[in-house]
Amino acid sequence: MDIIEAILKRRSIRKYRSEPISKKVIEEIFEIASHSPIAPALKQHEYYVLLGSKREDLVRIVSQNTAHLREVLEILDEASRERAVKYYADLGGAPVVILIVVPKTKSIWEFKSVATSCGTEIMLLELAALARGLSTCCFTMAPWIEEEVAKLLGLPEEKTVLYGMTLGYGDEIPPPLEHPKAPVHFVE
Ligand SMILES: Cc1cc2nc3c(=O)[nH]c(=O)nc-3n(C[C@H](O)[C@H](O)[C@H](O)COP(=O)(O)O)c2cc1C
Repeated sequence: MDIIEAILKRRSIRKYRSEPISKKVIEEIFEIASHSPIAPALKQHEYYVLLGSKREDLVRIVSQNTAHLREVLEILDEASRERAVKYYADLGGAPVVILIVVPKTKSIWEFKSVATSCGTEIMLLELAALARGLSTCCFTMAPWIEEEVAKLLGLPEEKTVLYGMTLGYGDEIPPPLEHPKAPVHFVE
């Protein structure tokens, strides 16, 4: 698949088939994503791949997101809000949930580096998944949820969960979406 075609084809999917994904394919996707640009000394994130009963435990925690993310939900239009609430309820039935864990950064420059490294790698994860016929969707967690998730993973005090992402064989065609364009300023 051409790179541009893949970028334009990728969409967030919030409903999945229950079909499991082989660990070999999951590992391959992480291997591909590891080729993203890095700030070597500051690439400190790690992934937790939740399957089976741990995935169920996580879904139970994330399903409470709706109550704690009221501010986020309020800014969405009605259709998007409905989709988001439904998605949080069981993470779309995704058989695999990936959590990105980062160190709690002490300075803004460290935070920028960690967040940018994660963002670039997450994008490659999404595209690698797409190339293997899989779908993904990032999900936001309220701070209270993050603490519960940290407990579930047994994270040490100095680490936190940055973001979550579902992975699975998609079972929906999302509605067309106008992607807002960030302003681009040419400075000469
Ligand atoms: C950082 C980040 C957080 C997101 N959080 C959520 C979320 O909490 N719930 C959700 O349904 N989608 C979430 N998404 C997916 C976005 O809603 C989605 O990417 C956006 O609507 C554009 O749609 P598309 O990915 O299908 O192009 C998130 C995406 C990103 C990058």
